[in-house]
Amino acid sequence: MKEVKVMAILQVFDHLDELPTEAKHLMAEAIKASEQAYAPYSKFRVGAALSLDNGQIVVGNNQENAAYPSGLCAERVAIFHAGANYPKAKVRAIAVTASSDTTIVDKPVPPCGACRQSIAEYEQKQDAPIAIYFMGETGKIVKASSLSDLLPLVFDSSYL
Ligand code: THU
Repeated sequence: MKEVKVMAILQVFDHLDELPTEAKHLMAEAIKASEQAYAPYSKFRVGAALSLDNGQIVVGNNQENAAYPSGLCAERVAIFHAGANYPKAKVRAIAVTASSDTTIVDKPVPPCGACRQSIAEYEQKQDAPIAIYFMGETGKIVKASSLSDLLPLVFDSSYL
């Protein structure tokens, strides 16, 4: 038996002003997108913004449903939109943020497991890393340079 260490190095920024200009702009788009979320049930508004290598920015927000599991997270709304409309473009980075009508979200909000799996598919498809920046309504911003840092031991097409 031997042990295998699985680790990731993330970057933590104290303030939006510390981000590179492009990432700051992307996060501003994610904040705007979160304000348009359809979240009547959770009151938790998530916004995601993707930058593509063709210069396009694609946004998404969570879309909830009275039949709860029929809703979709912001990140998947955004990345599926990118996949549907710009299938040849590579996704360079994704910014994610969230706010709530009932509480102050002061912790960085990472993509959920299902969204990580979905983003991983595109990282594999384009054979290039997708950087993920995530934050709450206030507080620190976390950056993962690649989705794979957030989802080690991913299940992908190599197993099929
Ligand atoms: N949500 C997202 O949009 N992204 C995530 O990564 C986590 C959760 C949404 C789903 C639901 O509409 C609300 O946040 C509460 O879970």
